[in-house]
Amino acid sequence: ESNEQIEKVLELLRLDDEDKLRIIMQSLEREMELGLSPATHPTADVKMFATYVRSTADGSETGQVLALDLGGTNFRVLLVDLLPQSKVELTSKIFVIPQSIMLGEGSYLFRHLADCLMEFMNKENLNKPGVRYPLGFTFSFPCKQEGLASARLSTWTKGFTCSGVVNEDVVKMLQAAIDEKNINVQCVALVNDTVGTLMACAYKDPNTEIGLILGTGTNACYMEKLDRVGTWDGDYNDPKQVIINMEWGAFGNNHRLNHIRTKYDEEVDLSSVNPGKQIFEKMISGMYMGEIVRLIMLDLIHQNLLFIGKCNGSEDFKTPLFTRGGFYTKYVSSVEMDEGIGFSNTRRVLEDIGIRNPSYDDCAIVQHICKIVSKRAARLAGAGLAVLINRINKPNVTVGVDGSLYRYHPRFKRNMEKCMQNLVSKNIKFLLQLSNDGSGIGAALTVAAAEALSNQEK
Ligand code: BG6
Ligand code: GLC
Repeated sequence: ESNEQIEKVLELLRLDDEDKLRIIMQSLEREMELGLSPATHPTADVKMFATYVRSTADGSETGQVLALDLGGTNFRVLLVDLLPQSKVELTSKIFVIPQSIMLGEGSYLFRHLADCLMEFMNKENLNKPGVRYPLGFTFSFPCKQEGLASARLSTWTKGFTCSGVVNEDVVKMLQAAIDEKNINVQCVALVNDTVGTLMACAYKDPNTEIGLILGTGTNACYMEKLDRVGTWDGDYNDPKQVIINMEWGAFGNNHRLNHIRTKYDEEVDLSSVNPGKQIFEKMISGMYMGEIVRLIMLDLIHQNLLFIGKCNGSEDFKTPLFTRGGFYTKYVSSVEMDEGIGFSNTRRVLEDIGIRNPSYDDCAIVQHICKIVSKRAARLAGAGLAVLINRINKPNVTVGVDGSLYRYHPRFKRNMEKCMQNLVSKNIKFLLQLSNDGSGIGAALTVAAAEALSNQEK
């Protein structure tokens, strides 16, 4: 009987019905058209930003390029050496962005980035006199681009809220901070992490036309035909195509996903720093998945269906289980890695969040919740991807993928592929390709391509 009650709670989180996914696909494609058309773009939830990246690299790019990678779990500074025959050498260092900077004033953020860049360059002896080093900036937030090296932040996502940056040109802000410190670096291109991932993957596999991130946030980009981009205001030279940064995380902001949202999704949204925004992202990505699981566990505890008799004392309410953000998405992966009846990972995770000696049933229920929540996320992402693959409609389409959720979750890829098998047109073969260090390399490739072009024009 308690099983039935639990199933009832979880029922709404199941997206097993393929027709539901097809409805979501249709609605996403409609929102994409709204984003691409100038009349509806301003109010569209899926912004479909044109990136000014018009072609992928062909392997002939060479040279030394610096890159900054901001917006994922880690902030990194990279030095990318592009060598002949698509070979790449990479040096990188991770720096911390303190919470106070994430929530503080924008100018401090960019000064901090410039400080880290300077420290890295000193360590790598990048100080040849007279050399102005080119830099690619992977900035993984929604930006309206006005050129390769000009991009206005449209809104922060993923917990950043720095003041004085929205509507500003972030390349200008970064360059000002770099110049202030007399660093001999020129920011030549800004790319979203999805675009970096696409570029890096295309360098090795020319069928790559989609970049996907499943990490702290989620988003996708793809190569679109220029004549379908009503908002395009650049030139119409060949190739008549441009990479579109969809910002699909915002799908649902116009209430298009209300029919599948649960009270847990609403709660996650309301307690975030950007309520009402990034609705699709909040149902999928790593910044929110653990929290959804935690809220479901709390609901089951209140209904006396989970951890029975194990958390009643007032001390218990101070444990991570009862604290917002206390259940990490990496726990979801770890719990789902348990096979059989031992539940060794699950037990460890439950101890970490303050449950002593969980019963076999406790472990089984927690794993069940994790599986349902992550499967829903995988199916939503898979449905989104299927829209893009069908739209591109070529016999072979490769998707470059990056992000901690995709990388570390034991079943995410398989769950996506399973649902995509039926949603993608039968005449198309698709391949999900994990990209290593993608965004940094991708930013460097974008810079190299831009430099080659400007040299041609000289
Ligand atoms: C990294 C990329 O590998 O993945 C970043 O270098 C990207 O550009 C990130 O933002 C996304 O994953 P996560 O899990 O770090 O948000
Ligand atoms: C958020 C950002 C987007 C980024 C994604 C993945 O959705 O708005 O720009 O690509 O996270 O990092």
